Amino acid sequence: MSELDLLKNRLGHLQSEALALFDEADSLAALQALRVQYLGKKGALTDVLKGVGKLPPAERPVMGQHVNALKSTLADRLDLRERQLTVVEKEKRVEAERVDVTLAGRVLPRGTIHPVQQGLDEMTAIFSQMGFAIAQGPEIEDEFHNFDALNIPQEHPARAMHDTFFVKDEADDPILLRTHTSPVQIRTMEKLLANGEEPPLAVVAPGRVYRCDYDVTHSPMFHQVEVFKVDEDVSLAHLKGVLQHFLSEYFEKDVSLRLRPHYFPFTEPSAEVDVGCVFCHGKGCRICKGSGWLEVLGSGMIHPNVLKSVGIDSTIYSGFAFGLGVERLVMLKHGIPDLRLFFENDVRFLRRMGS
Ligand code: DAH
Repeated sequence: MSELDLLKNRLGHLQSEALALFDEADSLAALQALRVQYLGKKGALTDVLKGVGKLPPAERPVMGQHVNALKSTLADRLDLRERQLTVVEKEKRVEAERVDVTLAGRVLPRGTIHPVQQGLDEMTAIFSQMGFAIAQGPEIEDEFHNFDALNIPQEHPARAMHDTFFVKDEADDPILLRTHTSPVQIRTMEKLLANGEEPPLAVVAPGRVYRCDYDVTHSPMFHQVEVFKVDEDVSLAHLKGVLQHFLSEYFEKDVSLRLRPHYFPFTEPSAEVDVGCVFCHGKGCRICKGSGWLEVLGSGMIHPNVLKSVGIDSTIYSGFAFGLGVERLVMLKHGIPDLRLFFENDVRFLRRMGS
């Protein structure tokens, strides 16, 4: 066989082999590899062209034409196959990415409002409905608002009993984390007068307070709600009426009430308030330690010294005040045995309380 015939033969094989492989290629990537293999710089056709160069000059043009024809046949077939595979791959992708809009949605876990916050909200709402305005004060306080203005002077034993967290400001003056919400009384009265206004004033002040204390019934941070009213002729009867309404609303039953004489520096007279045990209805049980009564809050008639400290005339105005521990009331309402449950954030507890 002549050199020419051999080459022609080779071209024939090359063509059928290449076309078969093109048809078998099942991805654009595989097809691209074949394009390189046959038409690339170092591909099979380049190899053949080298053979053409070795032919006698007269035969080269004919052979050259054959090679070029094969080249365009292969290129056309590659393009055709490329278009087919593009469509196939696109269909595959669409199928893979299809979104089933009929599928049920994924439910995200939903939290609940923390029981202490629920308690705060409920309590604040009851006072709000009675016409008390909501006020807030800073959790970082000075000694004047937390103690002095509330008739708890330096060296007063009550000051030591507050287990205060002290911090110092830049000038080394003692500042502290408020030990109760009572300083909000001072701040709201100061603001009232600074605005050129006068009592009446009726305020509910919910918030966080801090004491250096930790056991079954005490935590270093807890919540209080402070309530007070200042006006002409405010009496102990008003205090009792407000307490009676609030406690019956909060415990969702008619509770009985007892005011026990007590001592607070910022009230005179002062009383601790007990409700008839909501568990045994006064018969005496483990929770009320057999007494039939539960101690719920401290109260009294605002001490004239407190009014004086902000410049309110205590011969014209009087007021009542009380402060309650939110955690304690929530524990009593829901029969929660340990205060620390509120702060451990065990989701089983939080869910049960939230539902
Ligand atoms: N501030 C008191 C405390 O934290 C509670 C209290 C008692 C507040 C009597 C009052 C009150 O307003 O009149 O122990």
